Amino acid sequence: MKILVTGGAGFIGSHTVVELHKVGYESIILDNFSNSDKKVLDGLKQIIGTETPFYDNDINDPATYDRIFTEHKIDGIIHFAAYKAVGESVEKPLKYYRNNVAATVLLLEKMQEHGVKNLVFSSSCTVYGQPEALPVTENSPVQPATSPYGNTKQICEEIIRETVATGSGLRSISLRYFNPIGAHESALIGELPLGVPANLIPFITQTVAGLRGQLSVFGDDYPTNDGTAVRDYIHVVDLAKAHVSALNLLLKQPEGQYYDFFNIGTGTGSSVLEVIKAFEDATGLKVDYAIKPRRAGDVTAVYADVTKSSEILGWKTEKSLTEALGDAWKWQLAVSKRK
Ligand code: WQD
Repeated sequence: MKILVTGGAGFIGSHTVVELHKVGYESIILDNFSNSDKKVLDGLKQIIGTETPFYDNDINDPATYDRIFTEHKIDGIIHFAAYKAVGESVEKPLKYYRNNVAATVLLLEKMQEHGVKNLVFSSSCTVYGQPEALPVTENSPVQPATSPYGNTKQICEEIIRETVATGSGLRSISLRYFNPIGAHESALIGELPLGVPANLIPFITQTVAGLRGQLSVFGDDYPTNDGTAVRDYIHVVDLAKAHVSALNLLLKQPEGQYYDFFNIGTGTGSSVLEVIKAFEDATGLKVDYAIKPRRAGDVTAVYADVTKSSEILGWKTEKSLTEALGDAWKWQLAVSKRK
């Protein structure tokens, strides 16, 4: 079975290519490398043992899909490719609506044109905003988006659901990620944030590696145990495996329309200070940090109820926060050596 992985050279995409290979799927990567490095392909080859075919093209280019769907019989698509910087999306909303929404519409049109029926979509827990109740289930209301980035995920979920409902034959699963962290145990692939990391874990590892100054902890006045914000940090390999489970579920569905969505998290919330402590325990290294004011747009706490994923998707996390932080540090050391 051949799977088209858009954004397959990215953080989650590349780890998913590894997990797809492990269970016998063949990946085809579509990536314009605007937010990823071609070195990822070398890392994949060392892990998998063979080259992963790739198209260095844009997800907004219709001809690219015609070429791919003509040159390969594609059994399913995992659509990762999107811009994901929350802050940038506020400054440049049209860039996000074009790349995240318009490109998804084009992908769906091309799937219909070429008879490709199975789609796993990369969504985000950001659709829940600040849930009223925790842990958050898939029945929790989708809140008005707090950023254009979050809005693009909500809009794409709706577009996909409505396209499935037309009976066009499309079948799809949206995976609502919580906070992906860590790296493959080989330290051959991992998170490669361009510029100053927005996310917590790469900022911690770059601070400890001496590449950044002190870590800023954005706020210690939240109504949480220790005052710092709480998130559900999931090992990227566990997240990658969830995509394989979603694909398997789609491919065994009888003909006809099917749409569902799942929370992909660990089910446990961790505060910023708890993550810092876990990192120090995992590595034996100190994190130099200072408490700073809250970051605009941050929610107090969000973590997943993963009952539905476990019961219907047949998936749950296997790796711990400590393991993920240890793998993130191993990856940081490997990247620092490359420079
Ligand atoms: C986590 C916590 C920060 C950096 C975002 C997107 C989400 C998904 C994951 C794409 C927060 C705190 C962070 C720092 C800090 N992205 N923090 N100092 O904001 O939960 O989620 O990334 O799919 O959609 O919204 O992740 O890692 O930025 O922040 O104190 O230098 O760490 O305030 O409480 P976030 P994050």
